[in-house]
Amino acid sequence: MRENNQSSTLEFILLGVTGQQEQEDFFFILFLFIYPITLIGNLFIILAIHSDIHLHIPMYFFLANLSFVDILFSSVTIPKMLANHLLHSKAISFGGCLAQLYFMIALGNTDSYILAAMAYDRAVAISRPLHYTTIMSPRTCVLLVVVSWVVGNVNAFPHTLLTSSLSFCGNKEVANFYCDTIPLLKLACSDIRFNVKVMYLGAGVFSVPLLFIIISYIQVFSTVLRVPSTKGVLKAFSTCGSHLTVVTLYYGTVMGMYFRPLSSYSLKDAVVTVMYMTVIPMLNPFIYSLRNQDMKAALGKLFRKRLSS
Ligand SMILES: *[C@@H]1O[C@H](CO)[C@@H](O)[C@H](O)[C@H]1NC(C)=O
Repeated sequence: MRENNQSSTLEFILLGVTGQQEQEDFFFILFLFIYPITLIGNLFIILAIHSDIHLHIPMYFFLANLSFVDILFSSVTIPKMLANHLLHSKAISFGGCLAQLYFMIALGNTDSYILAAMAYDRAVAISRPLHYTTIMSPRTCVLLVVVSWVVGNVNAFPHTLLTSSLSFCGNKEVANFYCDTIPLLKLACSDIRFNVKVMYLGAGVFSVPLLFIIISYIQVFSTVLRVPSTKGVLKAFSTCGSHLTVVTLYYGTVMGMYFRPLSSYSLKDAVVTVMYMTVIPMLNPFIYSLRNQDMKAALGKLFRKRLSS
């Protein structure tokens, strides 16, 4: 195959989550449930927040943004997996593969930075309640959201560009159910040392929000321990538990995946990616709303309005 022809004719094979037929059937059924739940759950969060004036505060705007990103994020990989399974095909074009790579990195990073904005919001609400409205002004909120989107796209661009210029001359079997960074790099026959460096750098950029989240929570905990707990502080604090659950699940799985030598990666690891590619985006709306009275009230109102109209 001529090098300049590569992009138009090159096709990859997605081996799937485990590569075993019966297990692929299981994951097909699983994703068939997960995907609509993710779409509907997150859509309801966005609708509930936008239709209830009580929820027009930064914390819920960030949550609505998180839901929006989660809808897009799970749409990068799941529909392709479902369609391929139905069509008894495992193929994905080179362009499709690069698109998955780009949007997965971009949206994953945006998600990560929005989680940090949410932690910062809680830290300000709890440690500096009197300055809350001046610090978290509408302008600051929009800025934090815009920065999250910009960082995501800036981080996705170099890695995708570098991957697009690699040559793939041998095995085209991607060891996952979508085009992921490490499985793709392992298939290249060009020198990938620079790509790997850029990938680790990208993983570093992805992890920066974790640092902000840890600092925010240290501030939250020290305030809660120091100040005699008022009802307001306790209420603000109650939303932190769910946030910490998501953050621990998310960073734990993602970092375990990308901060390690390429050689240690095998198809067995694809099961771990199911966690942050599909399960966490589905869980986010539930984790944030089931223990939250304001959110439940807004959802209840939304349902009643829909039922009566
Ligand atoms: C995202 O956050 C911004 C700023 O707070 C807000 O104006 C916007 O409506 C949010 N987007 C969604 C989808 O809720």
